[in-house]
Amino acid sequence: MLGNFTYCNPTKLYFGKDALGGLNEELPKFGKNVLLVYGGGSIKKNGIYDKVVEILKANGKAIFEDAGVMPNPTSEKLNEGIARAKAANADLILAVGGGSVCDYAKAVSVSVNAGDDAWKKYFIRFEEPTCKIIPVGCVLTMVGTGSEMNGGSVITNHAQKLKIGHVFGENVFPKFSIMNPEFTYTLPKYQMISGIYDIMSHILEQYFSGTDDNTSDYIMEGLLRSLIHSANVAVENPTDYEARSNIMWTATWALNTLVAKGKTTDWMVHMLGQAVAAHTDATHGMTLAAVTMPYYRFILPYGTAKFARYAVNVWDVNPDGKTEKQVAEEGLAVMEKWMKGIGLVMNITELGATKDMLDGIVESTLVMDGGYKVLDKKDIRAVLQASF
Ligand code: NZQ
Ligand code: ZN
Repeated sequence: MLGNFTYCNPTKLYFGKDALGGLNEELPKFGKNVLLVYGGGSIKKNGIYDKVVEILKANGKAIFEDAGVMPNPTSEKLNEGIARAKAANADLILAVGGGSVCDYAKAVSVSVNAGDDAWKKYFIRFEEPTCKIIPVGCVLTMVGTGSEMNGGSVITNHAQKLKIGHVFGENVFPKFSIMNPEFTYTLPKYQMISGIYDIMSHILEQYFSGTDDNTSDYIMEGLLRSLIHSANVAVENPTDYEARSNIMWTATWALNTLVAKGKTTDWMVHMLGQAVAAHTDATHGMTLAAVTMPYYRFILPYGTAKFARYAVNVWDVNPDGKTEKQVAEEGLAVMEKWMKGIGLVMNITELGATKDMLDGIVESTLVMDGGYKVLDKKDIRAVLQASF
């Protein structure tokens, strides 16, 4: 049964080959000073930077830059961004990049006027912003996180070995996002499939929870089927527009809060993956892929019916003559084969995790209680051990 909820998603999307033109509609809504935030330079190589700057100039904007946002953006970089946004007296933060750049822009947006240590306030104490928030807009170049249409912001503190996400409210969602699937063509295959698995994991984290049957389950099964098909096509042909546009759109719907409405959610794959990343700085989607099979096999006995439904409705497993458990296990086996087939990293050793990190990774893993089994430290250790 669907629980009670409110739903509002205020982000305006411009999608398709001409999406960048949406900047001309959006920019006049904001003041003159634009803080242009981007990553390590991919946008300079593929020409997106030049196109964005041209439109900013044509709209009479004063451009201030904050470059070098790293994958898994750090609390130190966040402090630098706050200083840059203050110095620019920014009226708009324009994030041009992937989830890291968009997440970082949101973190800066709520921190500039907070008058407090941003890491402690938002990522340790999980406070909500009460200060003035600088509006954020995104030009998406990497697909996976859903950051373009949500309030999520994930920041890593290497000194404390913590990677923590704060899911902010609607006031922190991007005001607009520009989504041109062609902008993702230049992604290296490693990043493309990592993003694809991030999308899949977002859907599964919300699917594998609860024993009820609600509309979200059907939406998610459809999203998963579209994603699997499009991923197969994109791995063969990275410039297949239909596949890349479907992947981009699925990513947005996977984590723009819709499918979680009225139901419980799990999120332990993300908690495990984030703990691995806090110790290895590995690529987000790969950390999820690497812990997925051990985790799902661990919780399968507690949610067998849903795993069996998943096997049949998403992976076309034939249930005839099989027990529910057999069907559920076969579904995971088919999924595992598919994951290996598209090239995902299936263990944390390959991501740089070593056995001497185990205690620390266990310690860094936050426990969520919406899944089929609430893990204790011993369970977390067992799942991680099976992930090496
Ligand atoms: O930095 P540059 O040079 O731009 O290179 C990036 C980066 O190295 C590159 N890239 C991006 N677009 C490209 C490109 N290279 C070539 N062509 C392009 N068009 O890709 C690399 C990865 O980028 P990044 O932004 O780090 O990837 P992603 O979008 O996966 O974001 C990961 C971050 O988002 C967080 C993750 O934890 C991680 O910190 N997440 C955010 C969420 C949210 N806001 O709701 C939820 C997710 O679960 C996730 O936790
Ligand atoms: Zn994710």
